[in-house]
Amino acid sequence: MARITELNVNGARRRIDADPERSLLSVLREDLELTGAKYGCGEGQCGACTVLLDGRAVRSCITPVRAAAGKRITTIEGLAAGGRLHPVQQAFLETGALQCGYCTPGMIVAAAGLLRQNADPAEQEIVRALDGNICRCGTYPRIVQAVRMAAKTSKEARRG
Ligand code: FES
Repeated sequence: MARITELNVNGARRRIDADPERSLLSVLREDLELTGAKYGCGEGQCGACTVLLDGRAVRSCITPVRAAAGKRITTIEGLAAGGRLHPVQQAFLETGALQCGYCTPGMIVAAAGLLRQNADPAEQEIVRALDGNICRCGTYPRIVQAVRMAAKTSKEARRG
């Protein structure tokens, strides 16, 4: 299969030269120096590597880069816009929804993906959407609180 030579990452066209079967995570981290998405398990089980593909959360460690070609890739580095943090990032800061921080980029990206699909999720929907993202420090209650806060502030921003 032909090598992958271009990706659309965080709104920009990025030139690469990658074997199509390489993981999207390795291309992001090693070729494009976007190290926000983390390598945790490497098997699709922890969510540390979560990025958005056309707005949907995927595990980039088990996604071949060929599957991302021609799609919009959003990493944690691309969430802030116009000098302002994404509402989920802001809410994580305000609620202290992190401890060691290793899972945080994946959690935030997964939550941002959820809010794109569902602007006002119920607590159970947040829990279900983030169920596959593992936090070994156990900050889950504050993470859920942060996502609820982000949904609320996003709603208020849309209204205002
Ligand atoms: Fe991808 Fe764990 S590193 S799911």
